[in-house]
Amino acid sequence: NNPDFAVYELPEEHQTIREAVRAVCDGKVAPHAAEVDEKSVFPQEAYDALRASDFHAPHIPTEYGGAGADALATAIVIEEVARACASSSLIPAVNKLGTMPLLLAGSDELKQKYLPPVARGDAMFSYCLSEPEAGSDAASMKTRAVRDGDFWVLNGAKRWITNAGVSEYYTVFAVTDPEKRSKGISAFVVEKGDEGVSFGAPEHKLGIKGSPTREVYFDNVRIPADRIIGVEGEGFKTAMRTLDHTRVTIAAQALGIAQGALDYAAGYVKERKQFGKPIAEFQGVQFMLADMAMKLEAARQITYAAAGKSERGDADLTFFGAAAKCYASDAAMEITTDAVQLLGGYGYTKDYPLERMMRDAKITQIYEGTNQVQRVVMARQVLARS
Ligand code: CAA
Repeated sequence: NNPDFAVYELPEEHQTIREAVRAVCDGKVAPHAAEVDEKSVFPQEAYDALRASDFHAPHIPTEYGGAGADALATAIVIEEVARACASSSLIPAVNKLGTMPLLLAGSDELKQKYLPPVARGDAMFSYCLSEPEAGSDAASMKTRAVRDGDFWVLNGAKRWITNAGVSEYYTVFAVTDPEKRSKGISAFVVEKGDEGVSFGAPEHKLGIKGSPTREVYFDNVRIPADRIIGVEGEGFKTAMRTLDHTRVTIAAQALGIAQGALDYAAGYVKERKQFGKPIAEFQGVQFMLADMAMKLEAARQITYAAAGKSERGDADLTFFGAAAKCYASDAAMEITTDAVQLLGGYGYTKDYPLERMMRDAKITQIYEGTNQVQRVVMARQVLARS
């Protein structure tokens, strides 16, 4: 008779986290966003500010020296950083992506060795799954890991690796048994300093220009046998389970980019006068703002629901992770495009932040699985349950 509707409210603790991240980002991340984009430089000021307030890798559990943020709190951190600067939001997002295989399947020794430096902000962690010929079809990867006594020897090339070069550690998926396709793939921790690791030139991209994307090459990289993450042959499953959790963080990134664009556009239309009055008074403009806000709120609800499922490890996380990332990124693309439209010619120039936000939004429809792959994942789940 007296249901507790608080389930549809963000817990107070999470509201407080949002306010704290927003304050850091307004003061120390947003002021550098345009320059980071313009010069395609790593957002070091943002890294330092996030690190100083423990928002650079908030998901690392306290037992490994981290802040121990749950999946919803982590999503909110990423969302708020992305509202200020999408490139910078890849710091907490990719730290989660790179370390998630360890958290899900790694030995305690491996976790004790590699997680505390990330928690302290002394190292970042990247995720190496994609290859030149293995993008959506991740299981067709060619990078090989061959056992040699107490070592694994890795050879191959990974492509589109976010934060490559600036990260100290890499989760690398490689074929250990070529006969078995997805069941012959294993996961390893590789260090930037391991002999035989090198990087390609930074890609020239449409957006997220402050986050370096490079190829990573492995030329007879010999790593100790205990750097395998989990059980040999289960790497592909670990890669997919990781993405179930981290697609939620890409949804959060999309939310943040879209919120930044909506906030800016809503402020602008109240100032900009045409035909003798602020353009906010025209219904055509109001309808656009209403649609933008409606889509954003729907995206936020599915993203936070997915974050709850990620935290609890619910069986339907695979569906929700894909749905949140797909829905929120499509919404972000529409919202940022409409935000540019609301500013007219000004929106199309670099004097205003909207064109950057529109360019940054695009990648959220592509990485951690294209939105076409998300639909494949969702459809498989729907068909499996019916
Ligand atoms: N959880 C656990 N196990 C899973 C799983 C999941 N979510 N998804 C698949 N598996 C298991 C399957 O059960 C199967 O094992 P069994 O045979 O024992 O049942 C095995 O993995 C193989 O699965 P599929 O047969 O479904 O594999 P597939 O080859 O058909 O591929 C796919 C499925 C969904 C298309 C997958 O390849 C995919 O997600 N592709 C997209 C890859 C991707 O997202 N890349 C992003 C790169 S990272 C990045 O972008 C990050 C960045 O830089 C920021």
